[in-house]
Amino acid sequence: MSPRHFLTLKDLSSDEFKQLISRATELKKIHREGTRFEPLKNRVLAMIFEKSSTRTRVSFEAGMAQFGGHALFLSPRDTQLGRGEPIEDSARVISSMVDAVMIRTFDHATVETFAKYSSVPVINALTDDFHPCQLLADMQTYHEHRGSIAGKKVVWVGDGNNMCHSYINAAALLDFQLVVACPVGYEPNAELLKAHQDRVTMVHSATEAAVGADLIVTDVFASMGQEDEQEQRMKDFEGFQVNRQLMDKANDDALFMHCLPAHRGEEVSTEVMDDPDSVVWDEAENRLHAQKALLEFLLTK
Ligand code: CP
Ligand code: NVA
Repeated sequence: MSPRHFLTLKDLSSDEFKQLISRATELKKIHREGTRFEPLKNRVLAMIFEKSSTRTRVSFEAGMAQFGGHALFLSPRDTQLGRGEPIEDSARVISSMVDAVMIRTFDHATVETFAKYSSVPVINALTDDFHPCQLLADMQTYHEHRGSIAGKKVVWVGDGNNMCHSYINAAALLDFQLVVACPVGYEPNAELLKAHQDRVTMVHSATEAAVGADLIVTDVFASMGQEDEQEQRMKDFEGFQVNRQLMDKANDDALFMHCLPAHRGEEVSTEVMDDPDSVVWDEAENRLHAQKALLEFLLTK
């Protein structure tokens, strides 16, 4: 039987997504009470990082340790992956020795190829196209602060990037309305948009989008791998900063989220980052609990 992978949110059903959110909140409680819970004793997660990370690495590594298992950090700099060993061969070999593999890379096709040849579950820990693990944490955070997100208005401000694509998938699975506000030329993938036109609207004005929002989310103007475009993007993204003025257009109880790392004064003002409406620190912490729920789901169910 082929293993269950988590390459995009669409690998989950709506019910599974909701179950993971509530399980994440339970696991958070268990962890805070200091109760020992080790469902992954002696199990090993290989973590392949071809891009930098703070939250993803720490949360997966800490999560495996808390579950009684172990996590292995693998970088292309000191494995044969960086010297051109084919993904197919690496997948066969690595998956023969561990219980799950987590990959952060550039091309989404890399995680798909790895998954095809892996005998154990593969988790997408960010590609140029999707960041599904972050959405588990974001949706858990919304739920913990405001209850169900179904029927709410979520506004994505900024680049139509990997995070935006995962928000589009989340809108379909959790039944919320998503308005994407991005500069001309930075729209999300057209096919993905088209496939979700019942729930997702595209506009080119952040102020227009923010009216009546229940949640406003943004991300850096230039993602990992786009560092050379930073200067151009700073010009192109003018008017796409989430600041007090923009948050004032949203509903009174609207929340602000950002996957982090954030660039204060660029995509978000310092004031909004530090505002009580901002739940970015809970969102970051929930990476731990949400991914523990995911690991438990993929490895023990
Ligand atoms: N949000 C997120 O994935 O952070 P890292 O890049 O630090 O892992
Ligand atoms: N869009 C960002 C997310 C970082 C967590 C990037 O890909 O760099």
